[in-house]
Amino acid sequence: MTAAAPLSTPPAAAAEHGTDHVEIAPSILYFGTPVVLLCTENADGSANLAPISSAWALGQTVVIGLGRDGQTAENLARRPGLVINLPGPGLWPAVERLAPLTGRFPVPPRKAAGWRHEPDKFAAAGLTPVPSATVRPPRVAECPLQLEATAERVQPDVSGEFVIVEAAVRRVHADPGIVVAGTDHVDPARWSPLIYSFRHYFGLGPELGRSHRTQTPRAAGRAVAR
Ligand SMILES: Cc1cc2nc3c(=O)[nH]c(=O)nc-3n(C[C@H](O)[C@H](O)[C@H](O)COP(=O)(O)O)c2cc1C
Repeated sequence: MTAAAPLSTPPAAAAEHGTDHVEIAPSILYFGTPVVLLCTENADGSANLAPISSAWALGQTVVIGLGRDGQTAENLARRPGLVINLPGPGLWPAVERLAPLTGRFPVPPRKAAGWRHEPDKFAAAGLTPVPSATVRPPRVAECPLQLEATAERVQPDVSGEFVIVEAAVRRVHADPGIVVAGTDHVDPARWSPLIYSFRHYFGLGPELGRSHRTQTPRAAGRAVAR
């Protein structure tokens, strides 16, 4: 039996391997994920809208990380319907207009500096609500992808600072401009998420290649990625 490899590489060994990485202690680890606009229902039936970047899909479930003192977390703990709206890169100014706003009143102490209460986030952002088919919160018309969902599990994270939401997607609405015509496939060459990387906004660069698991038909006339 051979000895198990060490889990971490000591500095001397790192130098031997030729890496010039430096050890850093970043205050945030937001390494680049898509922005979603979560629309949820307030206690009075009005809509709240919040930009969130801690969201990822597992099959038909979307897992979302939320600050526990925000209005979105409060809403989802009580009213499970939500819409996960995906903006394209051009919507970053609207996302940034939402950034200093909270639907929470009064503004919680930890948000006192830098945030203000805003009951009408759609108007504040210059975005348009359109009715959903299966849930009460509206969709954001300007977002090319809109996922209607229900929060099936809302639980505290290990730090106690956040809540983790597991949302089951019930219906997907897509702008026809990003769909391979006549199919259920989003065309990755025409869809581009808005990426939030270390608190800066980016779009995607050109396609690098295809996964061996892709089922998206190639659009006629498009260059083949190798
Ligand atoms: C691009 C972007 C990404 C964000 N990502 C998250 C996130 O993943 N989770 C979170 O709780 N807050 C996130 N925030 C902060 C919330 O949007 C902010 O706390 C907002 O006030 C929440 O609104 P609410 O209190 O009405 O729910 C993000 C903000 C921006 C601008």
